[in-house]
Amino acid sequence: MHIPPDTVSLDDYERRFHERVDAPIRAYISGAAADGVTQRDNRAAFDRVKLMPCALADFSNASARSILLGEVLESPILIAPTAYHKLVYPAGELATAQAASLTRTWMTVSTQASTPLEEVARIGSAPVWFQLYFQPRWEDTLTLVRRAENAGYKALVLTIDATISGVRNIEQRAGFRLPPDVRPVNLDGMAPMPTFDARNGSPVFKGLLDNAPTWATLQALCRETRLPVVVKGLLNPLDVPRAIEAGAAGIIVSNHGGRTLDTVPATLDCLPGVVAAVNGAVPVLLDGGVRRGTDVFKAIALGASAVMIGQPVLHALAVGGMPGVAHMLTLLQTEFEIAMALMGCATLDTIDRSKVITAL
Ligand code: FNR
Ligand code: LAC
Repeated sequence: MHIPPDTVSLDDYERRFHERVDAPIRAYISGAAADGVTQRDNRAAFDRVKLMPCALADFSNASARSILLGEVLESPILIAPTAYHKLVYPAGELATAQAASLTRTWMTVSTQASTPLEEVARIGSAPVWFQLYFQPRWEDTLTLVRRAENAGYKALVLTIDATISGVRNIEQRAGFRLPPDVRPVNLDGMAPMPTFDARNGSPVFKGLLDNAPTWATLQALCRETRLPVVVKGLLNPLDVPRAIEAGAAGIIVSNHGGRTLDTVPATLDCLPGVVAAVNGAVPVLLDGGVRRGTDVFKAIALGASAVMIGQPVLHALAVGGMPGVAHMLTLLQTEFEIAMALMGCATLDTIDRSKVITAL
């Protein structure tokens, strides 16, 4: 695979991805819910925040390192869970995991990965987290949990903002279907999710949500597993006490990259409220629209411990396979360190709210 030399930013990978990948797969990967308002706003929110640098700080002991859930994190950029990496590259999640290891990036593996979760955990040396979707049968959920524990995953990421698929018109218009050789292999043998059949009126309240998780399900999960459970997809500060009381060890402020409910606010705009409600009890992460080192900086300044990226990983995997993902991750890590250097912040704990202007 050839990575053109003018591929120097995450947006360049996105552009190449659109040149090279078939329309239905592009629609699945880049398609937002409904009209894409939230997806656009995720990006716009970063651009609205301005940076206010301090000059000539001492960088002799500079580092982007931190501790997250008890482990050393070299750079506060993680890979968000995304389904079906084999859609864009034959080695799929295995290539992503190798790139993650090379760049010491933590990877979150989706329940809907197209590669067995044990194989993904085995191939790399960097910590991996497992993203969990509750299954219709509790025993199937527990099977996934035990498999993740036994395979050496360091945390479970429970996604709470997608109990039902969003209105995916872009994907529907493009006629996206999974190709025959790509499927959620980790769910083989498990009870399928109820299917959507609108021929007799809306099916949503006629069974689709009968086994949907509640806060009690989260609490049951936290009691069942020895792994920390990080809740992904929380936007409203009112949900914070519920998550923490249920046992969450971390929170990811996320709107699923704008793929679930359209017109919810940008994640960066929700971050300060969630951070205030959490009040230091657990780490808060953010995803959605992170494309520049300065975006990472802004999220940390507004209280995030780290960020996650979703689409850029698939763009880079499609364009450059394993080296593409490693290159893309290195670009973002480097951009973030450049931002720290030019902002006068030699360590993450000096990146605070005084370094950004949120309303001009
Ligand atoms: C996702 N996302 C996602 N989230 C999750 O919890 N489980 C999943 O299986 C998936 N699958 C998935 C597939 C694709 C193609 C995309 C683009 C996204 C959401 C993902 O974890 C993350 O929240 C967003 O992608 C973050 O936004 P950006 O970085 O893509 O803008
Ligand atoms: C998605 C699901 C897999 O966003 O979470 O496509």
